Amino acid sequence: MPANGTVLRAYRREDLDGVIEVFQRAVREVASRDYDPDQIAAWSKVDRAEWDEYRLRCPTWVAVRDARIVGFSDLEPDGHLDMMFVHPDCQRTGIATMLLERVERAARDRSLGIVFTEASLTARPFFLARGFEIIMRQNVVAGGETFLNFRMRKRIV
Ligand SMILES: CC(C)(COP(=O)(O)OP(=O)(O)OC[C@H]1O[C@@H](n2cnc3c(N)ncnc32)[C@H](O)[C@@H]1OP(=O)(O)O)[C@@H](O)C(=O)NCCC(=O)NCCS
Repeated sequence: MPANGTVLRAYRREDLDGVIEVFQRAVREVASRDYDPDQIAAWSKVDRAEWDEYRLRCPTWVAVRDARIVGFSDLEPDGHLDMMFVHPDCQRTGIATMLLERVERAARDRSLGIVFTEASLTARPFFLARGFEIIMRQNVVAGGETFLNFRMRKRIV
């Protein structure tokens, strides 16, 4: 087991409530320092049936510590990393780094060449620290709110 006591494994259907909890807590308790309350309310809204379907369709990895899901990430077939979320109690302990290494390995196995994402203001320092470059700033509309985020990418060799 790595030093931070966390192991990674592939997502299973019974992980759904665990990943939703990590997502909502990370948005409400961590990303809330960079976005306003209306944005956070819109972002953290979850359609459970939609999530269930999408998580089974999109290759996803979960980070498990003390038998509890503490983070997750994914990789769509075109190299798009859609989600990277870590539980508020476990920030800055290397969990996202472990997940990103797993995502990059999957991208390499599939000869994708590039991984790209739309990083929140909150996640931008993490992706920059892990070798991503900013392609552009953009405003995206979701749930009736406008969010500033950053299209970022990393070449995978
Ligand atoms: C972004 C996020 C996934 C990072 O997860 P994490 O497990 O805390 O990241 P790591 O511990 O692997 O960080 C690795 C490195 O990234 C950089 N980094 C991470 N968070 C940072 C921050 N807030 N400020 C500055 N640098 C940061 C640091 O260099 C860090 O290394 P260090 O801790 O040794 O200095 C997490 O903060 C999160 O869930 N944020 C809220 C949700 C969100 O916005 N998700 C992304 C949606 S696009």
